[in-house]
Amino acid sequence: MNRIYMDHAASTPMHPLVAEEMLRIMTGTFGNASSVHAFGRDAKRIVSDAREKIAAAIHARPADLVFTSGGTESDNMALFGAAAARVDKGRHLLVSQIEHHAVLHAAEQLAEQGYDVEYIPVDTLGRVDIEWIRDHIRPDTTLISVMVANNEVGTVQDIEAIGALAREQDIWFHTDAVQALGSLDIDCEKWKADLISFSAHKINGPQGIGALYVSPKIKLPALLHGGNQERKRRAGTENLAGMAGFAKAVELAVSSLDERHAQLHHLRQEFLGKLEQRIGSDKFVLNGDPSHTLAHIVNVSFPAVGTETMLMNLDMERIAVASGSACTSGSLETSHVLRAMNLSENVLKSAIRFSFGLGNTSEEIETVVQKIESIIGRVRA
Ligand SMILES: Cc1ncc(COP(=O)(O)O)c(C=O)c1O
Repeated sequence: MNRIYMDHAASTPMHPLVAEEMLRIMTGTFGNASSVHAFGRDAKRIVSDAREKIAAAIHARPADLVFTSGGTESDNMALFGAAAARVDKGRHLLVSQIEHHAVLHAAEQLAEQGYDVEYIPVDTLGRVDIEWIRDHIRPDTTLISVMVANNEVGTVQDIEAIGALAREQDIWFHTDAVQALGSLDIDCEKWKADLISFSAHKINGPQGIGALYVSPKIKLPALLHGGNQERKRRAGTENLAGMAGFAKAVELAVSSLDERHAQLHHLRQEFLGKLEQRIGSDKFVLNGDPSHTLAHIVNVSFPAVGTETMLMNLDMERIAVASGSACTSGSLETSHVLRAMNLSENVLKSAIRFSFGLGNTSEEIETVVQKIESIIGRVRA
């Protein structure tokens, strides 16, 4: 049996057209975009083209995009940058409990530096309560950070409403759109977001490249100092092939957004339907918000089988899925996202994330459900 990859929320296979575009750049253009000669100008054109294409896809201006090394750097730049830029207004930050560690660990560092970080709770479906945010805003609140869609359970937040609240209160709003890019229509203006994080490798682009949207209304200090690249907001010689590959991946994802959504939604429904048929709806629990979700992420608990056992057994069957939990010293830590959702202990300890994408088929769904059924049978016996 061929291997089955259902961990697209972790990283995705590169689209062949992205690889082709990157190879074209890697074998054809090697100048430094800061050089004044023709080689440099060629390189600079690649950077500008990529920036223009990505900006157009997210309804932003090219000048508002800062290329980074990925989602982690974008999140760090947003948090550390916003905290430093607004220190005169205050040191109070509101960050959701279910953010990616790139946001949470940056927030923890800020707390160690004397910032007052308050964590926005979520309900059992993983949704933040806007009224809770409204009640906890203070005169010294400078930043709200709530992700568009969660990487473990797929829950999508009402970003427009949070953005409107932040704007009305003169608070900067950061949203992590790493999982949402390629799944939802990203509209910087409509969302009233000041900072938005993106990453290429979640949308069949290359690893190690991403971007941060920075609203023209705000000024963010740099984290990296050196050359004048990225309008002095992020120093370092540009990753030409990465930028071109990222732009190609965005172009492909955004031009087929509806088609992609329909296909992934179909796989999701098929997966849940088959689970219900084969193992019964009383043997699994769907985690996350079923009506406000990314199509490609399905988090399911099988209370009869612990996460680690299910993961290992699926791996032995050549099926790659994820737990959503960090692996520390050889054992799985329960996920901070599921814990924040206040799920029961057996649901927490048996959660598995399936995430679909390029190359997945209905036949693979059938195989995976069959294997889950036999693993549950085996473990119970
Ligand atoms: C929601 C979210 N934010 C940030 C990141 C980090 O992105 P990168 O892997 O590009 O550093 C990830 C990756 O898992 C993610 O899912």
